[in-house]
Amino acid sequence: MQVGIDKLHFATSHLYVDMAELANARQQAPDKYLIGIGQSQMAVIPPSQDTVTLAANAAYPMLTAADVDAIDLLVVATESGIDNSKAAAIYVARLLGLSKRVRTIEMKEACYAATAGLQLAADHVRVHPTKKALVIGSDIARYGLNTAGEPTQGGGAVAMLISADPQVLALNDDSVVLSEDVMDFWRPLYRTEALVDGKYSSNIYIDYFQDVFKGYLAEQHADLADFAALAFHLPYTKMGLKALRSVLPTTTPEHQEQLLAHFEHVRQFSRQVGNLYTGSLYLGLLSLLVTDPELKAGDLIGLFSYGSGAEGEFYTGRLQPNYQQGLDLALPQRLARRQRVSVAEYEACFNQQLQWIAADQTIDYQHDPQRFVLTGQINEQRQYLDQQA
Ligand code: COA
Repeated sequence: MQVGIDKLHFATSHLYVDMAELANARQQAPDKYLIGIGQSQMAVIPPSQDTVTLAANAAYPMLTAADVDAIDLLVVATESGIDNSKAAAIYVARLLGLSKRVRTIEMKEACYAATAGLQLAADHVRVHPTKKALVIGSDIARYGLNTAGEPTQGGGAVAMLISADPQVLALNDDSVVLSEDVMDFWRPLYRTEALVDGKYSSNIYIDYFQDVFKGYLAEQHADLADFAALAFHLPYTKMGLKALRSVLPTTTPEHQEQLLAHFEHVRQFSRQVGNLYTGSLYLGLLSLLVTDPELKAGDLIGLFSYGSGAEGEFYTGRLQPNYQQGLDLALPQRLARRQRVSVAEYEACFNQQLQWIAADQTIDYQHDPQRFVLTGQINEQRQYLDQQA
């Protein structure tokens, strides 16, 4: 029996800032952001969206009533959670109308945790093949205004339905993982923005990729030529390109060209959204599968997941015959319809997030077209609204 990703869907906000405009405002050369970092647009997350609403907005459109009935495990992976104790997944389960007979947990290990959730969900379905599991990576990446990390912000959520006989990608049981205590990026409980040693984290990312990829090749007696395409965690899209380039010399020039061409599809959506933290690898996978006309059923896809702190995992999946049926095919149109905001409007949004204080707060959500929105806080409890209910 095969187990894997049956459906894959994405949500972000309806707002973005243009990266050339942001570069000009920060007295940087636009090509540094557009080419050097590899980002064209960055999602601007309004205060009416948080980890919970993004997660629910990502999952809701793809779930049928039969899916809802079959889901008995919900994992929300995030490093921008809204509570130190209660799992974001419990709020999400309510918004999605899931059964009360569902295990709901939140997982954390920087940008890696959605992969841990995916593997947990796949093992769960292997034992309970009539059940389905929902895994959502949901985050808002915040480094701060006028910081080196600012052009690598963004936000959104990727929802994955895991089932037996999946439509999209059958997962192989071949993961190689690496985890060690490394201080490249962390966020103490008292901070709303991460602390990061950016150059160090980029170097560790490459080291981890090479380690787990070489480990995979040795364990599976495989080589790079076996792969149709590689998808990467994309904190910024140049990062994945650097990782890919680091292994290209081991294959033929013709295959190198093919892998580079596929990578342009991997990074297409991330280029327009920015960093998603936990969801980033899976937005890359979705981007590859939605935009690349050269892929075909049976192709082997390699996936590299990385979370600072640090943990890396390389694993693979086989593309299934009807993979397009499980995908968020309308995403390119939704991204194109977003509203561009000025740098001043982006800065205002950045500073207007729900405050970490006990007082009641109200959020102006009237202009947010997303189905699920955060409307404020009453008695220290976040208030969520389904605008279509
Ligand atoms: N045209 C084209 N490229 C340009 C350029 C220009 N005018 N000016 C600079 N660049 C290139 C640089 O050569 C560099 O490319 P390289 O890394 O391939 O050498 C790139 O743009 C970035 O420039 P750099 O000076 O290194 O940027 P920075 O010091 O502002 O920091 C990050 C970049 C990514 C380290 C920073 O944004 C960051 O800390 N991000 C958060 C951490 C992160 O994402 N880590 C990833 C692992 S999880």
